[in-house]
Amino acid sequence: MKACSQSSGQPSRQFGTFGGTFVPETLMQALAELEHAYLTLEGDLPFQEQLSHYLKDYAGRPTPLYFAKNVSEKVGCMVYLKREDLLHGGAHKTNNALGQVLLAKKMRKTRIIAETGAGQHGIAVAMAAALLGMPAEVYMGVEDIERQQLNVLRMQLCGATVRPVEIRQGQGSLKDAVSEALRDWASHSATTAYVLGSVAGPHPYPSLVRDFQKVIGIEARQQILAAEGRLPTKILACVGGGSNAIGIFHAFLQDDVALIGIEAGGKGEKHGATLSKGSVGIFQGALSYVLQDDFGQIQEAHSISAGLDYPGVGPEHAFLKTCGRASYVSITDDEALLGFRMLAELEGIIPALESAHAVAHLLRMKLSSNDIVILNVSGRGDKDMLLVQKLLEEKR
Ligand SMILES: Cc1ncc(COP(=O)(O)O)c(C=O)c1O
Repeated sequence: MKACSQSSGQPSRQFGTFGGTFVPETLMQALAELEHAYLTLEGDLPFQEQLSHYLKDYAGRPTPLYFAKNVSEKVGCMVYLKREDLLHGGAHKTNNALGQVLLAKKMRKTRIIAETGAGQHGIAVAMAAALLGMPAEVYMGVEDIERQQLNVLRMQLCGATVRPVEIRQGQGSLKDAVSEALRDWASHSATTAYVLGSVAGPHPYPSLVRDFQKVIGIEARQQILAAEGRLPTKILACVGGGSNAIGIFHAFLQDDVALIGIEAGGKGEKHGATLSKGSVGIFQGALSYVLQDDFGQIQEAHSISAGLDYPGVGPEHAFLKTCGRASYVSITDDEALLGFRMLAELEGIIPALESAHAVAHLLRMKLSSNDIVILNVSGRGDKDMLLVQKLLEEKR
């Protein structure tokens, strides 16, 4: 294991040289207020008890760590699946949404806004806002609205307003939705909480979201020790902004466990994966890796999976990559489709297209019989059924 000189995981403004707060003056006050509230959370027992209650009795934690016998036989080592797809809402996003909406209540905010790509963060926020009696508005790119219609309907049923973000502002996907939400927040922060969906954006979001997601790794560590009496050799998780990956990596940072993040490589050579092909730059409030051209203009990401279609990545991942503690690879759309089908056919588990990228990487890794792999199934695939059907028909 490569050790990092600065221990990652503190509620610091920066991760090595990455992170920080690169935002217009109009957002500084809102971020300072959020940071102040965030720093009180660890010692706030009633808050922690309330969150644990909702995570357990409402959302269904702990999620199982399932020994995938058929996949294990196929790849020649022990493979365990961390089943975030079984969490209420259908993805890990519920952990963070419950935490941040509870925090918004504690801060006496009266309105919730959020962005969403695949719609999983949007539905998690809509559910948490309905549960806690808050009105919610969710910004979503028009391209994503088109490809994730089921989640749009689910958000609306939970009482949220879905605000389309038009193509003229970019590609009509996740980055544009984040920009719109930040714009809204800059003018309404006195009443409004911006519930950001990943470990990206300006401080304190990368630390705040990580702290709400690290429950995944804490559980997985206990579960694998109970099942096997030893730690895994490798952990795999897909990376969009990076929240499910940081969530499962975090409890293993100090251990001799290989941490592997899998990004979306789209159609291959032409398309980018932020950590694999991007470079260091400032994007949406933080210094991290970003897909940009020679003039620093942001390039669009392209992926079949709306949740990984993002030209930025959380700064803690940039840090973990640079110091060598985690490694990052990219998987193409076609490979992800193979992973999607393999998990369905071998285990009867239909993963989200995002998670299918991690499954696909498992298929091309060199593994030995001594390996124990934990793969984070970040979400379930219902939302992707129509898109997958279309893609498979095109291939016939
Ligand atoms: C199921 C699922 N997995 C992964 C992601 C990517 O987000 P992150 O990298 O923050 O986990 C998303 C985003 O929408 C998602 O819906």
